[in-house]
Amino acid sequence: MRLDKYLCHMGAGTRSQVKQKIRKGLVAVDGECVKQPEYQVSPVQQVCVEGRVFSYTEMEYYMLNKPAGCVSARTDEKCRTVLDLISSKKRKDLFPVGRLDKDTEGLLLITNDGKLAHRLLSPRRHVDKTYEARVSGLITGEHVRAFLEGLDIGEERPTRPAFLEVLLSGEISEIRVTICEGKYHQIKRMFQAVGCEVLYLKRISMGSLTLDESLKPGEYRPLTEEELAGLKDG
Ligand code: URA
Repeated sequence: MRLDKYLCHMGAGTRSQVKQKIRKGLVAVDGECVKQPEYQVSPVQQVCVEGRVFSYTEMEYYMLNKPAGCVSARTDEKCRTVLDLISSKKRKDLFPVGRLDKDTEGLLLITNDGKLAHRLLSPRRHVDKTYEARVSGLITGEHVRAFLEGLDIGEERPTRPAFLEVLLSGEISEIRVTICEGKYHQIKRMFQAVGCEVLYLKRISMGSLTLDESLKPGEYRPLTEEELAGLKDG
């Protein structure tokens, strides 16, 4: 890969900033100063910019406990994004796998692995996503049956079977629900369809990946080898 592209991918600056640094003689490859941005560098070589070493990372995978109040986007003019929270990222091409609403908390996978993201998000694969929520109103066995049978949320077809567990039933109920689709605002719309309102929503799993409960909202960590293997095999 070209030296300027490599450094740009590794977050050393924009392409033009990186080119300038290379031309100024601030970049060394395996200890030798290189002044040509087009110089071909391999992932095993050591690249140093003004004394800072950059090692090549092809793919990054992070589990984030998304806090409420930040958006699931790569950039946003007004609002903090989930990528702003990943301070240790090396790659500039990271993105969140799927979206959670601004006010939703919980599990979000952040990566630059487009192939894995496609597998997890493909509507044909029906990857399970489990959420916990607080909702207004008494949730009963009838709701459980209705969620299982499928609800009209204004789409062409009813929702696919969703598994609703009532954790606490009252004026405000606490539930856990598993869906295998990813329609816009799906959980909120499903509860609206049965006359209830979601007051708080948190995703706790996606496929084989479960939110690490030691992560507070806003915290993240790299996936373990096992977690990654589970997602890739799933
Ligand atoms: N369903 C919703 O309504 N919101 C989310 O953030 C995720 C699923």
